[in-house]
Amino acid sequence: MKLVVGATGLLGGKITRQLLDAGQEVRILVREDSPSKQLARKGMATPAASLIEAGAQPVYGDLKDPASLAAACHGIETLITTANSASRGGNDNPETVEKQGNRSLVEVAQTAGVGHFIFISAQMADRDSPVPFLAGKAQTEDLLMGGDMPYTILAPNAFMDVWVFLLVGAPVMSGQPVTLVGSGARKHAFIAMVDVAAFALASVDNPRALNQKLILGGPEALSFREAAGLYGEMLGLEVEVRSVKPGISLPNLTPSAMAMAAAFDTYDSRIEMARLAADYGVTLTPMAAFVRQAVQQ
Ligand SMILES: NC(=O)c1ccc[n+]([C@@H]2O[C@H](COP(=O)([O-])OP(=O)(O)OC[C@H]3O[C@@H](n4cnc5c(N)ncnc54)[C@H](OP(=O)(O)O)[C@@H]3O)[C@@H](O)[C@H]2O)c1
Repeated sequence: MKLVVGATGLLGGKITRQLLDAGQEVRILVREDSPSKQLARKGMATPAASLIEAGAQPVYGDLKDPASLAAACHGIETLITTANSASRGGNDNPETVEKQGNRSLVEVAQTAGVGHFIFISAQMADRDSPVPFLAGKAQTEDLLMGGDMPYTILAPNAFMDVWVFLLVGAPVMSGQPVTLVGSGARKHAFIAMVDVAAFALASVDNPRALNQKLILGGPEALSFREAAGLYGEMLGLEVEVRSVKPGISLPNLTPSAMAMAAAFDTYDSRIEMARLAADYGVTLTPMAAFVRQAVQQ
């Protein structure tokens, strides 16, 4: 039996569906007060009901309630967690979810004898990060690496589906100019969410994945300006790209998204992926294919 924690999220939902499609028995941790039903109407979550209908077995619980996690972990061979506080807020924050919640989950899973704990971290996770979310991810990595339970840490770079869509795809598709924070010329190996799900699936029941940390990126590093060019090409139009200085707020971005958009303009992220993708049998999605699919939807 596999357990997915975070199944009502975007990536968590994809992983759950792929496990079910592969004929696996899947349990999902579901919260009574999950906002996923409302968020799913805006394409921002996976409703628990749709996963239950597809065959997933729900167990009700919350990372903030350690007692609720024991029943979820009972009899589980492989646990995959994508759960995170970034898109939720309120009582779900880096302290309660990334730090305390993940610690509870690791401890309960270890006590329950879970055979393989697959943790979706982030490429930027760093125990010294001033960003509590990234420090919390790193703390969970440290716990896993220092414990006895076999683990796999998947540390993806920024998702195309989130950042390229938010900063470039959404404005272009609604006929607006693209506004980037800074030059937008830094190059990043953005990865498609579907490819992260494929790595998670390829890690399940895979002895080579045990006790490994895999940094994941897309097949090439491209800038937001190049992404805008791809949208223009696919749609056959000239996309107007503007730049603003960091610190200026944009109406379509939350303060944390603004901070992240500014951060992207301070470094490049190139990740050599050819060998890892071949080893795990994952065909990485080029940005052009992602954009083509986005404009055809
Ligand atoms: N976006 C990027 O560019 C990027 C880059 C690198 C890594 N990542 C990582 O990739 C993963 C993305 O996953 P995703 O797209 O599925 O996330 P998501 O859409 O933001 O969904 C969040 C999930 O976490 C669950 N959750 C939040 N607080 C919880 C709590 N207290 N107890 C139990 N569950 C809780 C939510 O459940 P409810 O529905 O009940 O709220 C939901 O299932 C995350 O781990 C993220 O950090 C993202």
